[in-house]
Amino acid sequence: MNLIRLFLVASGLVVARAFTPTTSINRATTRPLRRLSSLYMVQGQGDSYKKVFVAGGSRGVGRLVVDKLLASGSEVVALVRSEEAVGELSALEGVTAIRGDAMDYKTVEGAMDGCDAAITTLGGGHDARLDGKWVDYTGNNNVIEAAGILGVTRVVLVTSIGCGSSKDATPPSVYEVLKDVLAQKNKAENVLTRYYTNMNWTIVRPGGLVSAPETGKAILTEDATAIGSIHRGDVADLVVRALFSKNTKKMILSAVDPSIASSANTAGRINEAFALDADNVSIARWK
Ligand SMILES: NC(=O)c1ccc[n+]([C@@H]2O[C@H](COP(=O)([O-])OP(=O)(O)OC[C@H]3O[C@@H](n4cnc5c(N)ncnc54)[C@H](OP(=O)(O)O)[C@@H]3O)[C@@H](O)[C@H]2O)c1
Repeated sequence: MNLIRLFLVASGLVVARAFTPTTSINRATTRPLRRLSSLYMVQGQGDSYKKVFVAGGSRGVGRLVVDKLLASGSEVVALVRSEEAVGELSALEGVTAIRGDAMDYKTVEGAMDGCDAAITTLGGGHDARLDGKWVDYTGNNNVIEAAGILGVTRVVLVTSIGCGSSKDATPPSVYEVLKDVLAQKNKAENVLTRYYTNMNWTIVRPGGLVSAPETGKAILTEDATAIGSIHRGDVADLVVRALFSKNTKKMILSAVDPSIASSANTAGRINEAFALDADNVSIARWK
C-alpha cells in the first residue's frame, strides 16, 4: 500500500512544496542565455547536452533534476506555472525559467526552442483533469511533440511503475487506485515509443516516491516486474545519468531502491541493475 499512499500524498501541494530544496539556491544573477536554433544545438553534440528543457521543474523530482543538470554543467530551461517557481529558479545561474502551462502546446514549443534535450517529470494533481485532460498525457505529449517538431532528438520521459509492461508489478489493489493516472502516463509512453522512432528517448518509471535524502543505492532496471520505493533525489540522479548515458537509447527502465524496505515488494525481490556504465557516461561540461 506504500505506493498508493506515497503517490497520493505526493500529489498534495503542501508535501511537495515542503520537499523543494532551498539550501542549494544560488542567488547569483542569472546569466543571459543565447538563443540558438535547436537544429544548430543538436548538430555534433553526441551525448552531451548544452541546454536541457525541463518540464515539471518547480518541485519534486523535476526540481532536483534541475540541480543535477546544473551540477553536470548543462544549462536549463524550465517551464513552470507559478511566479514563485520562476523567481526561485531564475535565481540559479544557468537556469532560464519560463512561466507557462504545459497543457498549451505552443507554450511548450516556444520554451523548448533552442534546447538540445528535454526531460519531463510532469505529473497530475487534483486540478489536472481540466477539460477532461490530464497533464500526465497532454502535457507530456506536448513535450514529446514539440521535441519532434523542433528536432530535439533526446527526450527522457518520467512516468511510473504500473505503466505498460510494468502493470503486473503493481499489486492489483494499488493498480486499481492508480489506474486512471497510469492510463494517462501510458498513453504518453505509447506516443513516444510508437511514433518517434527516430528519437533517442528513454522512459524512467519510478516506484513509490519518498521525500528523503538520497541513499545513492537506487537502481534502474530493465526488469518490468520491479516494484518498490525510491527517494526523489535518487530518481533525479538516475534520470540525469540516464540522459547522458549512451546505453539508454530507447530503453524503458524501472527505478527502485533495493535498500528501502517496501510493503509493495512483499516477496523481497531483487532486480538486476541496468548498467549505466560510468565509462559510457559523458557529462557535458560547458562552463
Ligand atoms: N508520488 C509517487 O509515489 C509517484 C510514483 C511514481 C511516479 N510518480 C510520477 O513521478 C513524477 C514526479 O513526481 P513528484 O511527486 O516528484 O512531482 P510532482 O510533485 O507530481 O510534480 C509535478 C510537476 O508537474 C508540474 N505540472 C503539473 N501540471 C503542470 C502544467 N499544466 N504546466 C506546467 N507544469 C505542470 C508541477 O508544477 P506545479 O508546481 O505548478 O504544480 C510539478 O512541477 C510525476 O510524473 C509523478 O506522477 C509519482
